Amino acid sequence: MAAILIVEDDEKYCDSLSGIVRGMGHEVVCADSLTRGLRALSSRTFDILFLEVQMPDGNGLDVLSEILAHPFPPEVIIITDFRTPEDAKVAIEKGAWCYMKKEFSKNEITLLIINILEYRKKKTGDHAGTPVAHANFEGIVGSSPSIKFCKYLVASVAKTDSNVFITGETGTGKELIASAIHAHSQRAQNNFVTVDCTALPAELVESILFGYEKGSFTGAEKSRDGLIKQAHGGTLFLDEVGELPLGVQSSFLRVIQEHSFRPVGYQKEIQSDFRLIVASNRDLEDMVRQGQFRDDLLFRIRSFTIEVPPLRKRSRDIRELAEYYTFKLCRQYGIEQKTFAPEFFHALDAYTWPGNVRELIHALENALIAAQQEPALFAKHLPTYIRIWLTRTSLGAVESADKAAAALEASGPLLKLKDVRSRALAHTEEKYLTNLMRVANSDIAAACRISGLSRTRLYVLLKKYRIATHF
Ligand SMILES: Nc1ncnc2c1ncn2[C@@H]1O[C@H](COP(=O)(O)OP(=O)(O)OP(=O)(O)O)[C@@H](O)[C@H]1O
Ligand SMILES: [Mg+2]
Repeated sequence: MAAILIVEDDEKYCDSLSGIVRGMGHEVVCADSLTRGLRALSSRTFDILFLEVQMPDGNGLDVLSEILAHPFPPEVIIITDFRTPEDAKVAIEKGAWCYMKKEFSKNEITLLIINILEYRKKKTGDHAGTPVAHANFEGIVGSSPSIKFCKYLVASVAKTDSNVFITGETGTGKELIASAIHAHSQRAQNNFVTVDCTALPAELVESILFGYEKGSFTGAEKSRDGLIKQAHGGTLFLDEVGELPLGVQSSFLRVIQEHSFRPVGYQKEIQSDFRLIVASNRDLEDMVRQGQFRDDLLFRIRSFTIEVPPLRKRSRDIRELAEYYTFKLCRQYGIEQKTFAPEFFHALDAYTWPGNVRELIHALENALIAAQQEPALFAKHLPTYIRIWLTRTSLGAVESADKAAAALEASGPLLKLKDVRSRALAHTEEKYLTNLMRVANSDIAAACRISGLSRTRLYVLLKKYRIATHF
């Protein structure tokens, strides 16, 4: 646990910063004047000092040199409402860690604290353990910038005891990320307990979470620990926290604050030391507005947020995931490894994956079954609903182009029907062929197979519409 001092006269701001620091499991001391701050610094050592520039009894920058002259000075973060280049220069020259505007996200501040503490650990020669940023996360596949950033957040937060809030659409990997955090934390030797909040029957929710005493209700033949107790020393993962009934939310808020609770039928409270990770694919802020979720609980649980991006926004990962899971599935089924036709990846790229990675894995399983002994995977091996979607979408693009063309026609003098017909046909053919070559990734054989055209006919049409064979 690190000690952090906040020298700041704005009480509200001080409270929210303290909340973040406490949420990370650190001790925090607040001073509302420079004099009190300096007194606190002379009485003990602190690891980090948040120092406001404009204090009622002076300017924070004026005492910076004095603070850093201490034999064991803290790292100083200068905070201010009004940043000026001159002050920034003074702060950095005098030795502050950074000079920042007071508006910052919880993630920014949490990462800043993690980095500073890591630096101090190294400075004092405490090299115990592996550096967090280099932890190995081979279970989380993907090298797109956004998933790399997620891995970086996982590595950074894993070694702290901070609560973590994971958001993202269904199937993006929230549970995978939660278990990676646990696996790389100091709690890894103890339980990772998942509570699926969608599957908690309303009448049993308290006994499942808190446990119960023998005989406390019909059917309670012996006492049983609840999930919260089972997570003692480890991690409690609340999946789909938005589904937690309102009544349980208030008792749960107490559990998070006190880490103690009373099992059903018990006289006394019991303790559980768990690290909390929650996940949701619902908009909890909106639920708060609708009165379906407690705002104080939301404030507590989302101290450090990891947003897992949808698969359609990280197309580089689609290919890596497809290769990874195809390899894994082939081994699992004991079948020969498959290769991939370029059009297969093209089709994967063109689809929007509303079910994200989970849907991709199912699609690959289906493709392997459909391909049977064939050595390579083609787009035709993908599940029918995906192929229908792809075809519809490419037709949709053609249709909308046709509508635009028709609107143009309508604005001019009326033409002969056969001229309109041949223009529309030419327009549709051109759009179709452009799309075809893109989906087939300029592979003539694949384009023939998809379109049903002969090679000669395809070349004639490509020439006619001057369509490039390379994209
Ligand atoms: N980056 C990834 N690398 C490898 N596998 C992944 C990745 N992301 C997700 N998966 C796999 O995809 C499947 C779905 O992931 P997970 O259950 O973690 O998603 P989720 O976000 O919790 O979904 P839901 O909201 O529906 O509960 C799992 O089999 C998981 O292992
Ligand atoms: Mg999940």
